[in-house]
Amino acid sequence: MRILSGIQPSGALHLGNYFGMMKPAIELQEQGEAFYFIANYHSMTSLLDPAQRRQNTLDVALDFLACGLDPAKALLFRQSDVPAVTELAWILTTVTPMGLLERCTSYKDKLARGLAPNHGLFAYPVLMAADILIYDSNLVPVGRDQKQHVEVTRDIAIKFNEAYGRTFVVPEPGIRQETAAVPGCDGQKMSKSYGNTIEIFGAEKAQRKKIMSLVMDSRSPEEPKPDAEKNLAIQLLKLVAPPAVSADFENRLRAGGLGYGDLKKALFAHYWDYFATARTRRAELAANLDFVEKVLRDSALKAGGVAGKVLQRARQACGLD
Ligand code: ADP
Ligand code: TRP
Repeated sequence: MRILSGIQPSGALHLGNYFGMMKPAIELQEQGEAFYFIANYHSMTSLLDPAQRRQNTLDVALDFLACGLDPAKALLFRQSDVPAVTELAWILTTVTPMGLLERCTSYKDKLARGLAPNHGLFAYPVLMAADILIYDSNLVPVGRDQKQHVEVTRDIAIKFNEAYGRTFVVPEPGIRQETAAVPGCDGQKMSKSYGNTIEIFGAEKAQRKKIMSLVMDSRSPEEPKPDAEKNLAIQLLKLVAPPAVSADFENRLRAGGLGYGDLKKALFAHYWDYFATARTRRAELAANLDFVEKVLRDSALKAGGVAGKVLQRARQACGLD
């Protein structure tokens, strides 16, 4: 089984990225051939600063390795180190119905947030389809917001296979219900673009401040809270604390008598502790950037070998070769 996923280097990675995509992806490295990449071509649709892109790319690599991606088991590469993917994107774009892209909600969301409606933003899902199809991927671990893009990929693969004969593997999305949409500090989906994130490796003071300012209601500490499971701090605590601990806090909140301040303090402590080992490992890796660069290059070489074969198959199928 080949597992593939990508993440854009468009800002500091956060708990939504970690629990929605990185943790499942890292766990899956034990179960198949894992290909993970840093989607720097995709980041060009929203980030225009070259130095920032380079820095973010390195940061994503450090984050993944620190969180447990094992280069002996999984590949980790820069998307642009396998440029064949852009050729496949062109080939796929010729079998992609406009209506398929027009239905994509993430394009509309991005316009609503004020991003310029350029062609790259609109064609984004076709490049994503190329990313997936060029590695004969079977499974794509992602958060719920990317489900539609994997469905578009399936449609494009089927269209091409119908037009030119069976060429591409039709992939499946891998979405974990319990972490499909991690809420951010304001209760909306946590996202870099909503400014509501708790970062995986942010500075202690800043992250504590964010957690202590999580939006709560105005009920008094003594009041019982029958809807305790919906509380934002409880939802986040369930991710970073042992189940018995989060269940205890949830019960105390439900019964009444637990103040939001104490709950948030506990959340911060568990969050900080949860990533302690990864934080140490990240600092070690940051002092050994040659190693990180070697992982990226060696992985790109291996991924490029697979991509070359699949691209060749597609070129042959459609009469380019
Ligand atoms: P962002 O919305 O912060 O820009 P990305 O679009 O770069 O995040 O997402 C990278 C990966 O992390 C994708 O697989 C996405 O589904 C997942 N992801 C992002 N935010 C969340 C979230 N709040 N909950 C679950 N998964 C998420
Ligand atoms: N669109 C994804 C995101 O914003 C990133 C991505 C690009 C991706 N190519 C991919 C994810 C291929 C999975 C597979 O999060």
